[in-house]
Formats: sequence, C-alpha cells, structure tokens
Amino acid sequence: MAVLDDIGPLKDAALAAVAAADTLDALEAVRVTHTGRKSALAEILSGIGRLSPAERGPVGKTANEARKAVEAALADRHAALEAEAMGAALARDDTDVTLPGDPHPLGSLHPITQVRLEIEDIFLAMGYRIADGPEVEDEYHNFTALNVAEGHPARSSSDTFYVADRPGVALRPQTSPVQVRAMEAGPPPLYVISPGAVYRRDDVDATHSPMFHQLEGLAVDEGLSLAHLKGTLVHVAEELLGKGVEYVLRPHFFPFTEPSVELYVRWTDKHGRSQWLELLGSGMVDPNVFAHVGYDAEKYTGFAFGMGLDRIAMVRHGLPDLRLLFEGDIRFLEQFS
Ligand code: DAH
Repeated sequence: MAVLDDIGPLKDAALAAVAAADTLDALEAVRVTHTGRKSALAEILSGIGRLSPAERGPVGKTANEARKAVEAALADRHAALEAEAMGAALARDDTDVTLPGDPHPLGSLHPITQVRLEIEDIFLAMGYRIADGPEVEDEYHNFTALNVAEGHPARSSSDTFYVADRPGVALRPQTSPVQVRAMEAGPPPLYVISPGAVYRRDDVDATHSPMFHQLEGLAVDEGLSLAHLKGTLVHVAEELLGKGVEYVLRPHFFPFTEPSVELYVRWTDKHGRSQWLELLGSGMVDPNVFAHVGYDAEKYTGFAFGMGLDRIAMVRHGLPDLRLLFEGDIRFLEQFS
C-alpha cells in the first residue's frame, strides 16, 4: 500500500509548513505547494481512479481527511496572521480619529479669472475659439503687421517695455498681436478670442497698473459688416450686464481698424451710482492688416475688438483701486469666492 503510506508524511509536512509560515504571503506559497493543483496530495487524489479497487477506498478516505486537515490548518493560520497584521497596523497608527480635522481652505478663482471665464463662455457659445500668443512679442506682430505707423507713440519706449539688448522685442502692450498670429496660422473663416496679460508703462494712478488683462476678438469671413460687429458687441454687453443695458457706440481711431468704434455702457454699481463705462475698442479690420497676413481683402472682411478685463472686475465689484487685484492679499481675494 505504497500510496497510502505516503499520505501521512505529506500531511505532516504540510501542517509543519503551515505552522512555520509567518506572513500571509508565505502562507499563500505553502497553500500552493501543499494543496495546489500540482501538489503531491492533489496528485494522489486525482489518481485514485487508477488504483486497484482494494486500494481506492482507504487511499481516498485518508487523502481526503489529510486535505481537509491541511485546509483547516491553512484557514486558522490565515485568520491568525491577518489578526496579527491588523494588530501591528493599529499599533503603528496613532491617529486619533476623534480629533477635529486640519482646516483645508479650498480657495477660489481670482475676480479677473471669473470675469475672463464668463466672457470666454459668451464667445465660445457663439462658436469662437480661444487663441494664444506670446507675452514677449516682436516688433512686427506688436506694431508693423497691425498697421501701427513708424513713430506712433505706442512704439516708443516711454509707452512700451522693451527687452534689453533685443531690438524691437517688447512685452506686448495689447493682445492685438494675437490677431496677426491667428491669421498667419490659417485661412478664413476665423472666429477667435484671445485673453491675456498686457504691459504698459502707465501706472500713473490707482486705476492703472503696468500689467493688466485684455480680451481680444477677431472675426474674419465673407460678408461681415459693421452691423455684425454691433450685433456681436451688444449681445456680449447684454450677456455680461443684463438685457436692456444702455449702450452707445462712438467713433474712434485705431491703426488696425477702419472704421473704429468704442462701446460705452451705462453701468450702475451696487450703491446705485451710474456712469458711462468704456467697455471696449473695436472696428472693421483694416485691409492693410489683411495684406500683411496674405488674406484677400477683396473677398474677406472682418471685425476686431479688445476689452479690459480688470476694468470690468473693478467696476463690477466697486473696487476703488486697481492695484488691489494684483497684491495677492487673501483678505481681499476671499471676498470674491
Ligand atoms: N488694442 C486696443 C487697446 O489696447 C483695443 C482694441 C481696439 C482691440 C480695437 C481691437 C480693436 O482689436 O479692433 O486699446
């Protein structure tokens, strides 16, 4: 009865291995070795059918008992090791879950960011996309391609921050150069907006800062007219300030548009004070600008506009000083969450 005699030692070896396993991983390895499909015990059990009829009964009974004993020992050891691991983890973990938590302030979007996102949404809903451009810009995109004449005051270093030792390279004084880059990047039709920081040397008073934010817009297509520009601007003003907002378009001059208009809106602040606010500059894109980017001015027309985001945030919240927006004082900023 050679097979029957094997079972006892196999069982003893398995039980000894179970007892010796001191981690859950080690125990799993013992389980595979001693009761897994390729274990000696499993082979005996699956070979029972090939034994002589006399052997089958005793071998089957003994092997099954051995398997049950090993499985029971495995289960006990598993429970014991798990309890041990849990006990150790609890001993290591000295967190007192009854203590009050550490405050974790969430923060909020900066008021200028809030205005920017709101205006972006108005344009995205009309099918515009957002274009980006560099803040350190060359002379061609800042001025020349925008039809800004040589000798125009904006080109002078008393108005614009130039980069030392890089002739013509300056911090962009407006977001308008992104128009040029958007047109260079592809043919019409084009409906883009471009928000971003701009830089000017005019921090003369509390309503100016050497860095502020604009949102530029450009539409180029066949058949666009001043009526489309007006419709677009009035729609934006109404989305931003409410239906029925009082507005007026006034002729103006910008080098890159002809004709050019400024949009003024009547703004009533939360104290009931009412004033006319210059919301943006705009106009029909000058054919000279199209010539610089290779657009056919006989076939296409376009309109452009640029508005100051900081100004809108300032008026909306009745801020007395633009510089508050850039100081990063938490006591100020948390009022806009
Ligand atoms: N860039 C102008 C400024 O900074 C604003 C502006 C006016 C942008 C007319 C335009 C425009 O695109 O067509 O004052």
